[in-house]
Amino acid sequence: MGDGAYQQVFDEARTDPEGFWGKAAEALAWFRKPETVLDRSAAPFYRWFPDGSLNTCYEALDRHVDDGHGDQLALVHDSAMQGEGHQVLRKTYRELRDEVAHFAGALAKLGVTKGDRVIVYMPMVPEAVVAMLACARLGAVHSVVFGGFAAHELATRIDDAAPKLVVAASCGLEPNRVVAYKPLLDQALAEATHQVEHCVVLQRPQAEATLVEGRDVLWEDALAGAEPHDCVPVASTDPLYILYTSGTTGQPKGVVRDHGGHAVALRWSMKNVYGAEPGDVYWAASDVGWVVGHSYIVYGPLLHRCTTVMYEGKPVGTPDAGAFWRVLQDHRVNVFFTAPTAFRAIKRVDPEGAMVKDYDTSSLRTLFLAGERCDPDTLSWSGRILGVPVVDHWWQTETGWPIAANLVGLEPMPVKPGSATVPVPGWDMQVLDDEGTRQPHDVIGNLVAKLPLPPGALLSLWNADARFVETYLTRFEGYYATSDAGYIDGDGYVHVMARTDDVINVAGHRLSTGALEEVIAAHPDVAECAVIGVHDETKGQLPWGLLVLNQGCTRGDAVVKEAIAEVRAQVGPVAAFKHAVVVEKLPKTRSGKILRGTLRKIADGMPYKMPATIEDETVLHDVERVIRAL
Ligand code: COA
Ligand code: AMP
Repeated sequence: MGDGAYQQVFDEARTDPEGFWGKAAEALAWFRKPETVLDRSAAPFYRWFPDGSLNTCYEALDRHVDDGHGDQLALVHDSAMQGEGHQVLRKTYRELRDEVAHFAGALAKLGVTKGDRVIVYMPMVPEAVVAMLACARLGAVHSVVFGGFAAHELATRIDDAAPKLVVAASCGLEPNRVVAYKPLLDQALAEATHQVEHCVVLQRPQAEATLVEGRDVLWEDALAGAEPHDCVPVASTDPLYILYTSGTTGQPKGVVRDHGGHAVALRWSMKNVYGAEPGDVYWAASDVGWVVGHSYIVYGPLLHRCTTVMYEGKPVGTPDAGAFWRVLQDHRVNVFFTAPTAFRAIKRVDPEGAMVKDYDTSSLRTLFLAGERCDPDTLSWSGRILGVPVVDHWWQTETGWPIAANLVGLEPMPVKPGSATVPVPGWDMQVLDDEGTRQPHDVIGNLVAKLPLPPGALLSLWNADARFVETYLTRFEGYYATSDAGYIDGDGYVHVMARTDDVINVAGHRLSTGALEEVIAAHPDVAECAVIGVHDETKGQLPWGLLVLNQGCTRGDAVVKEAIAEVRAQVGPVAAFKHAVVVEKLPKTRSGKILRGTLRKIADGMPYKMPATIEDETVLHDVERVIRAL
């Protein structure tokens, strides 16, 4: 397997994390260089580079301008939703730095200071990147909320993060419809207990937002009279952002990322995992509302002085299945990252990949896929039509960067379809059974990472240290539980098979079945319900609701429709909740708990054991027949 570079680096990071990451940290322009690499004193709350001081925005922008690269392109925004066919906007490092400094000045004028939280509720517009970096510049903590979430989800995040200010756009653009964000924001603020001082609103021509006097400020008015703001030095351990992700309940978890560890890890990953060089063009076709967008649309490429491409559009229908190939060609993309679901969507429309021949994609070196399990078919199809190596790599919102990958910048390895290849240096992965016993090769179990986690991984959950410990660190002492099941084979390759909790993956988006169940269960005619992820050819999984109605209720079809509408209204369209069936009963234990784990295994087509505590086996068999027929 290659020249052994991977194994050597992996061992170094495992046996001497302080030495390894201390060396990696030298790539940054610290304001104050850290003397301590890893503070283990408050374990399991490990802290990287605790006495270091820096500013992530300085690292991502100013530093490159100061080094003489001000004229290099930093950001290319390509919108397939605007203009004649599409619209492109380009910003050099100098231009982006100046805009960010100016907007940071505007935020400061509105009262934002170091440590304040700012919610960013924006679609894929360049101003979203400007807002994120402006927060980082001030040492304020941004929390980007994905535009596909509805008002209630936004309200939950507002109450948890308690932001001083919200930066929003008037609308997002989806195929065939304009999504007005401002009414959703107003509704969320009406629902939330916490109130913000101001909302900065970016008007887009497709939908004009109505402003609330005294509270709302137009983007350009906020800028008027504001002075450019310098980078505020922050501690390496200060929070850079909070990103909410689905847990097992409707209460989302606010993943907290630091400045220093994050910058060190992402910068290291750009070269070693992605094989990217400064000056390369890097495109992550994701959304700034997701972790991939944070790490590889915004921070990673800019920290490494690449040109990042930000794409507003879809892989199909905007206007056709050649959309991705056009972007690769037009911007001479070198490294491309998206989710397998996007390729499945293209393949469904253009099964032979014929459209790729209309474009020159020769600049592309490697395609990276993540966000869900990559089926071998999609892996080979995408490699064949693009003619480049395809890397399936595994990560989570919590980890912030890949846990397992084929590290093409360090030592490319043979590909095994169905495997995300090997643990990334820093990630000491093991497989444990439910009792915590280490499993031999090829035996499926809980995938866990030995503590301490490498830099870049979550520090904690916002305002919820106890929940952090309980969710991730209690089940297997000394390990971070990924909530993914899988195995490691004899060559050390990691195979990620399924989630072990109530999280499902719909079109690369992570959803909590618990959150959907909470909405459905509130329907007056629903006695109880379970939501399961059912295999879908394009989106990987789709949520299906199993509804038990109150006795005597004969409005089955109407209840199904109402439940679907309510999920869309409360969670958002991104839940893609369009299917539900009425069942007589749900399988339960004798103590009355719904056997969700067993239902999940049936839906995933995984083998399951009849639970010893089951109340009535025939109920499970009946529901199994329903699920198999979906
Ligand atoms: N704002 C408002 N609504 C949004 C939205 C946003 N930012 N993003 C999605 N939605 C809506 C969509 O319009 C759709 O609404 P509909 O029910 O009225 O059709 C719904 O949410 C579901 O969206 P999505 O899951 O994106 O499905 P889709 O059919 O529009 O597109 C794919 C399917 C596969 C093409 C698309 O999901 C995709 O490109 N996925 C890649 C995912 C990704 O990049 N993940 C992270 C990378 S790791
Ligand atoms: P998110 O937090 O939205 O990034 O979702 C993380 C989850 O997506 C993981 O816990 C996995 O279940 C799944 N996932 C991400 N990448 C992969 C991959 N390459 N292979 C298998 N599952 C993946």
